[in-house]
Amino acid sequence: MPPTIVILERIHTEGMRALSTFAVVNQCLGQARADLSAHVAKADAIVVRSVIRVDAELLDWAPALKAVGRAGTGTDNIDLAETGRRGIRVVTTPGANADSTADFTVGQILCLCRRLFVARDMVQVGDFRRHLLEGRELSSLTVGIVGLGNVGRAVARRLSGFGCRLLGYDPAPTPTPPSVQRVNKIAALYADSDVLTFHVDMNDSSYRLLDAAALQLVKPGALIINAARAGVIDDNALLAALDDGRVAAAAVDVVDPEPTYDSPPEKAIFRHPLIAHPRVVFTPHMAASTDDAQARIARQLADGLRRVLIPSPTVTKTFAPTNA
Ligand code: MLT
Repeated sequence: MPPTIVILERIHTEGMRALSTFAVVNQCLGQARADLSAHVAKADAIVVRSVIRVDAELLDWAPALKAVGRAGTGTDNIDLAETGRRGIRVVTTPGANADSTADFTVGQILCLCRRLFVARDMVQVGDFRRHLLEGRELSSLTVGIVGLGNVGRAVARRLSGFGCRLLGYDPAPTPTPPSVQRVNKIAALYADSDVLTFHVDMNDSSYRLLDAAALQLVKPGALIINAARAGVIDDNALLAALDDGRVAAAAVDVVDPEPTYDSPPEKAIFRHPLIAHPRVVFTPHMAASTDDAQARIARQLADGLRRVLIPSPTVTKTFAPTNA
């Protein structure tokens, strides 16, 4: 009997194809949480991205579960203590979306520096006064990178070509890219950076890393990019800092809770104060959403799930008898 894999959040078709070579694959997208119990009841594995919480409740609904596939890097929506206790393997794809997320981040930095989002709104209403759109050259700025893992380092590599000064902070002993001056205290990075960009996992130590008190340390007029996790920044404190001008503009790719990404707009009822703010470029958790990254992630995920669900047979070596 091939294993059954239930896809609860959309993955690239290459992954669907690869999974279908060794499993029965059922796709159940955009379901209400209460309806998931019926869908996962017979699953040997489930696949999620960042929206669905894989907690004790969901795991109770799936008594046959052997693996959880997480299409991406973060595991903050998965109760790892609970999966560990039940012997359920969690398969992730670390680093597979780092280049796409770094490209996106640099794009958002340039968008904020050159006020492209304001220009778009202005010309739509017939306002062509370009003197109102003067921005900053990236080469004149200091960019503070919070988190020097795969994504933070990929951002640093790209930004080194722009001639800006780069500061980096990471309490973990990650390598420091040659273009980055590493600081030991995040307060120093906050105080000295014109642009702050966050690339950290969501965990107890990164929760509200940028809260109201930390925002007081930030250089007035700073630009902020969050393509990591919503919990890293206190949304209300960010809104207050945008309103009092301490933060000039922000690019926000993540909110908590996340909207469902599979509902058509007429069915989606999702509101968040950051979405409508005039100095926020809000995007739907799409930093990793390129065809390249999603295909790579889906292939790696399918490979990892195959290894867990179809273990290769133990090779028994046979030796020719000797005459000894
Ligand atoms: C990640 O954790 O790798 C990303 O946030 C995943 C995603 O884009 O869903």
